[in-house]
Amino acid sequence: MAKSNVLVTGSAGFVGFHVAKRLLERGENVIGVDNLNDYYDVSLKKDRNSFLLKDRKYSFHQIDISNASEVEKLMQGSKIDRICHLAAQAGVRYSLVNPALYTRTNIEGFINIIESAKKHNINEIVYASSSSVYGNNPMPSNGFSESDAVNQPISVYGMTKRANELTAYAYHHLYGINFTGLRFFTAYGPWGRPDMAYFSFTKAILENKPIKVFNEGNMRRDFTYIDDVVDGVIKALEKPFPYEIFNIGNSRTVELSYLIGCIERELHKKAILDMQPLQPGDVTETFANISHAEEFLGFRPKIAIDDGLKEFIRWYNEYYGKS
Ligand SMILES: NC(=O)c1ccc[n+]([C@@H]2O[C@H](COP(=O)([O-])OP(=O)(O)OC[C@H]3O[C@@H](n4cnc5c(N)ncnc54)[C@H](O)[C@@H]3O)[C@@H](O)[C@H]2O)c1
Repeated sequence: MAKSNVLVTGSAGFVGFHVAKRLLERGENVIGVDNLNDYYDVSLKKDRNSFLLKDRKYSFHQIDISNASEVEKLMQGSKIDRICHLAAQAGVRYSLVNPALYTRTNIEGFINIIESAKKHNINEIVYASSSSVYGNNPMPSNGFSESDAVNQPISVYGMTKRANELTAYAYHHLYGINFTGLRFFTAYGPWGRPDMAYFSFTKAILENKPIKVFNEGNMRRDFTYIDDVVDGVIKALEKPFPYEIFNIGNSRTVELSYLIGCIERELHKKAILDMQPLQPGDVTETFANISHAEEFLGFRPKIAIDDGLKEFIRWYNEYYGKS
């Protein structure tokens, strides 16, 4: 990718932070956008952002993407070559509590970004979708594939992510904008999201609090280490496709109980388990068939869960000052 100005939305978020960091390391200029909302600990978002601000090639704009005029003002004032759209209201469970926030941020917010991009002739957009689009589809033996039907999301969050893919298709058809959608499968790692199981489990174990284990720990997830996720995003930014969707996963599932075992081992401490039933909107197993991403993006995840969690716990101890 020739050196360029990349707009990274959600740059104070988990994935956005790591993508912005990698782009800066490669010498790109990054225009970061985030509204720093309080869905989870705002100080973590601010710390990620302060880290990025140490690099003079990073500029930051605290704006809400659901406000079209704020988005337009930003695009007018910046010379943007490509967009990496990662800002979203994430989280399956909270989408049952506050659905309108999801449609506002994820659907309207995305349209605002695309409309301004169109106006300013920005032709390349990479955006975050999610494994949630697969809903409760029966699991094929080689994992969920981009060619599977995805018309039956089982959460509002999953619905908004599918809506993003359909929106991208319409804008590609109408205006020829290049879109690559990336369906992430449970990203984890340093500077991660406190609302995700591996993070909240670590905190609870250290504080001697019970951890809620849904479906008796019989939930299988395709955990993808953040550096692998970033590799996928960078490859997508480097190689624009007219309209494509790629699974960005690890292609291997790990049972929740195995994950807990790894964390216990790294912390040298046992968890107190509070077994809970499966939650509405949750799916019991997700894993990605990544052959499409392998073939067309050259995407090859490298990090095994044990190593990735070791890195996460090392960061956690350092960040929260426990070592
Ligand atoms: N982390 C995962 O495992 C995962 C899995 C599937 C999909 N995704 C998608 O990847 C993207 C990044 O996820 P993440 O894990 O970094 O989540 P995150 O919540 O850490 O990051 C999203 C960022 O967007 C910002 N944001 C939210 N609403 C906004 C608004 N209206 N205006 C401006 N900024 C706003 C938030 O403040 C946050 O910093 C999201 O689109 C998410 O849906 C993530």
